[in-house]
Amino acid sequence: MYLQHFGLSKAPFSLTPNTSFFFGLAPHVEALQVLHTALTGGEGFIKVVGEVGTGKTLICRKLLNDMSHQFACVYLPNPYLSPQELRWAVACELGLEYTSSVDQQQLIQLIQSKLLSLAEQNKRAIIVVDEAQALPDESLEALRLFTNLETETSKLVQVVLFGQPELDLRLKQDKFRQLRQRIGFSYQLRALSRAEVAGYVEHRLKVAGWRGDKVFDDGRIGTLFKASRGIPRLVNVLCHKAMMLAYGSGTQRVSAKQLQMVIDDTEDAQLSHWSLRLALPAMALLIAAGYLAWQELML
Ligand SMILES: Nc1ncnc2c1ncn2[C@@H]1O[C@H](COP(=O)(O)OP(=O)(O)OP(=O)(O)O)[C@@H](O)[C@H]1O
Ligand SMILES: [Mg+2]
Repeated sequence: MYLQHFGLSKAPFSLTPNTSFFFGLAPHVEALQVLHTALTGGEGFIKVVGEVGTGKTLICRKLLNDMSHQFACVYLPNPYLSPQELRWAVACELGLEYTSSVDQQQLIQLIQSKLLSLAEQNKRAIIVVDEAQALPDESLEALRLFTNLETETSKLVQVVLFGQPELDLRLKQDKFRQLRQRIGFSYQLRALSRAEVAGYVEHRLKVAGWRGDKVFDDGRIGTLFKASRGIPRLVNVLCHKAMMLAYGSGTQRVSAKQLQMVIDDTEDAQLSHWSLRLALPAMALLIAAGYLAWQELML
């Protein structure tokens, strides 16, 4: 790969949500602040929604790292769970030991007494669900029932849902109105601005060990921003491929042509690129048609 060529110790634009690459971008810092405030305030349900590739799993991992000393954390990265499987997973993550003959009612009781013993040690539990848009309806309801468990003064469990915008669409349904009402805090992740894309690219390169001049100059950053629509995962894909091309041509700076080739080769990036290319002539045609119609009216 190009690591040696650029003198890097690790891949700068890997797609894995690795917290050692975390960059304090405004939307991500704000999301974490909202989560910290809501969790320490004892909120039952908290929700973070963001488009595909905007950094939800990374924030999720960062939250777990930050909170694991204070809370008993249950992390559910795979939400395709029936209510039964969900309870098994929660029990397992809480470190409960049980035999396979335990029925669901007994399992709920075991979980409840574990939560009570945690509360006695001043520890609350949080259930963090990634990809929550894929949770079956009944499992969302099972999660809501978990937040009914409480002592006289506080909840025993708090739930954090991370999901794509489809989660909001699902929660809008009437059958989820009870759950909806319990979501005390929510945060909508936005895409990055141009300046944020610039800082993001520079930060990742630095963490990977880059010490030279800019690999992506200002013009390239502008192109990256447009083609990625400010979505961090797309920025990573484009930067990774562009650096491969720069390596292939023996340079340490990505050229406009190389970046364009990469954009043309990246389906999701082409959408914005092509839609822009198609939208401009279409807009010009519409304006011309409008002008002709107006002239006809005037005659
Ligand atoms: N603040 C950030 N600092 C460093 N890297 C980031 C940041 N935000 C996002 N990324 C990177 O962007 C990529 C996509 O992030 P992530 O996988 O968390 O997105 P996601 O919202 O969970 O996507 P999906 O909806 O597909 O699950 C990852 O490589 C992640 O490390
Ligand atoms: Mg994710």
